[in-house]
Parts: sequence; structure tokens; C-alpha cells
Amino acid sequence: MTNVSTSLIHHPYVPPSAFAAPQPGVFKASTVIFPNVAAMRQREWKDKSGYTYGLHGTPTTYILEERLCTLEGGLQCLLVPSGLAAIATVALSLLKTGDEVLLPDNAYGPNKTLCDGELRNWGISTRLYDAMDPADLAAKISDKTRLVWLEAAGSVTLEFPDLPALVRICQARGVTSALDNTWGAGLAFNAFDLVPGSGETLGVDISVHALTKYPSGGGDVLMGSVITRDAGLSLRLKLGHMRLGLGVGANDAEAVLRSLPSIALRYRAHDASARKLAQWCSGRAEFAQVLHPALAGSPGHAHWQALCQPPAGSAQEGGAAGLFSVLIDARCSQAQVDAFCDALKLFRLGYSWGGPMSLVVPYELASMRPHWPAHLARGTLVRFSVGLESAADLQADLAQALAHLSV
Ligand SMILES: Cc1ncc(COP(=O)(O)O)c(C=O)c1O
Repeated sequence: MTNVSTSLIHHPYVPPSAFAAPQPGVFKASTVIFPNVAAMRQREWKDKSGYTYGLHGTPTTYILEERLCTLEGGLQCLLVPSGLAAIATVALSLLKTGDEVLLPDNAYGPNKTLCDGELRNWGISTRLYDAMDPADLAAKISDKTRLVWLEAAGSVTLEFPDLPALVRICQARGVTSALDNTWGAGLAFNAFDLVPGSGETLGVDISVHALTKYPSGGGDVLMGSVITRDAGLSLRLKLGHMRLGLGVGANDAEAVLRSLPSIALRYRAHDASARKLAQWCSGRAEFAQVLHPALAGSPGHAHWQALCQPPAGSAQEGGAAGLFSVLIDARCSQAQVDAFCDALKLFRLGYSWGGPMSLVVPYELASMRPHWPAHLARGTLVRFSVGLESAADLQADLAQALAHLSV
């Protein structure tokens, strides 16, 4: 008789295949077993027709990738360990020494840091363009430009750009466009079909998404995705992803699969509360400006309306993420602003948004931009991420903390 250790590892039992449940199975593997040497030699991982190694996919990650393609309107998807890893995968897979990348001036900070760090060390240059001025993007694209990043809305300051105009410029100049689609989450607009029903095919080349935010929805998972609709571009990214050794854990993939069915409902709930609170804040003297793309007067409001307000009867979800920022009147001291943030009881101090708990972060805008944007009032910027608590309770929380600000 075989030793029990061997029998436990090489057990012959195979469960019946006809099992169905609402959630897909969680397959965990670094090693993938092949039936014979011929199969081992023939197996192909790039077209997802089989399995070769844990990093190249399991049934659990393939299922998640397909669902994310459905969410965002893409055809190919790669999973990576964080949203920032998704940004880095695009840059490291597509750029080489001598190339230039263009970033919107309101880009997600760590994307700028990557450009100023590793990319600069490797001889890849970066220039910022004015996210609200397509002519500035057109002027800055040079014969070295290989990648243009887009964000809608911009990080922290939430200006909404004329995304179709920016993408048209990239297409006309033959430069790859990559959108950080975390704010829109595949729900506010379709990144691969920016002018639906117009007959014009206009979409970004690449959409990256910090699944850490709304797709996870719990504030407890870090993951990112890179989605495309072009097989050639997808292969370049897939080869970079493979060489960098990027993969995600099966339990994290499962957590995102579990949350995805409720993403549209949650997104709408975050959106509704954020709009109520942003509206309320815009009537308060302590706030010199409230930034939320759905508020009339917020920078880029008309572009948000054009892209994210679906026509009546349309199948599009539309809407906005649950984020808004305020510029606290410049007469309030930094100590007062800090006391306001500390006094909030339901809005907790923390960065990663998209979960059930409301969050607040004070920022130093002057250190994030080369100069103070003309469309922003002077003051201290505070960003709120609105969770799934009652909007009335959140408003009461803001109201009591305002006692710390005097104008
Ligand atoms: C717009 C945006 N993109 C990307 C990321 C990065 O996501 P992660 O935290 O998963 O690296 C964040 C995180 O805050 C973000 O706000």
C-alpha cells in the first residue's frame, strides 16, 4: 500500500462536474498540472485556451477578466495587484528610452511619481498638459510622444475634461491613449464608445481601473485591471505583464467577483449621496468652491453632462462617482482645517475610496500643481469620498465639524 502522505497528495477522487452555484469556484494555483508531456509542450497561455502557470491565469481569474470586459466594454483584460500596478504595467510595457509620455496636470499623483522616478531613470521623459485645454494637448504631442494619459474626472480636483476631443487628438496623431477609468468605473460612461449612436468610432486605446475602489467595494482588496479592444496592443501589454511577473491572489479575485454584481447599485447610491452633500456644501460660506462635475459651475460640468448624462430611454447608466472636494475659504488657518477634519466622526481619515465608509483627506494643492489653476478658488483643498451611510447622517457630521472653521 502507498504511504498515506503520497495517497493524500495523489488522490484519485474527482468530484462530479455538474456543480452550479451563484459564485464561481476559487481555483488557487502556482503549479498547473499537465496530463502528459505533449500537452505540456503544446499548451498556449496567451490566447487563454488553456492553463500553464498560476501567473498566467486560472478559471477564477479568467472569469473575472471576462466580467470586467463586460463592465467596461472591452475585449481583453489583464489583472494586476493594484491600480498603480495597472498604470505601471502600461508604461513599462509600451515605453522605451527616448520616448515621451504626456500626463494631465491633474493626474493621479503616484502616476506622476512613477514618471519622475523609474521612467526618468530609464530615459523616458514626461510632460504635463492642461487637462481642460485640448489645444494644449495637441501642441505638446511631439514625434517622441508614445503615450497620453487621460483622467475623467481628474484626481482630487475633479475637473471633467472634454474626453472625446482629447481622444480625437490622440487618434489623429497616432498616439496611444490610456484612461485611468477608476472614477467612471465603466458605469458613468463607456470609455471605448465615447460618442454612442453618432456613427463615429471613438474610444480610448487602454482603460486602467483600480479595482481596489468600486469593483471591490469593501476597502479590503487591492487590485487593478488593464483593458483593451485591440488584439495587437493587448499582446504587447500581456507580454510586459508576463515579464514583470504580475498576478493576483485567487481569494482577492473571488472578493471582487462577489462584489461586482452589486457595483451598479452601489455606484448609484454613492453618487446620489455625494450630489446631495456637494449641493449642501455649495451653500456654506466656509467653502469658497465645491468641486463635483455634476454641479453647475464646477470645472468641466458641460463635458460631464455631454458624456455622463444619458438621454432618456438610453441603456447607459451615466452618473458620477461618490467623490467631491471643497476649497475651504483662505481665511481659515491650516490648524482650523485640520481641526475640521479631525472633528468629523463618520468621515474617517483615509485615502482609498469606493468602499462603504466615508473618508476625508486634506491635500496641499500648491505642492501638487506647478501653479494654482485659474479655475480654482484660493483655499485649502479637502476631498470627501462618500460611502454608503445615510446622507442625512453624513450631512449632520459635516455640519457639526464646521464649528471649527470661522470666516
Ligand atoms: C484615480 C486613481 N487611480 C489609481 C489609483 C491606484 O489604485 P491602488 O490604490 O489600487 O493602487 C487610485 C487610488 O487612490 C486612484 O484614486
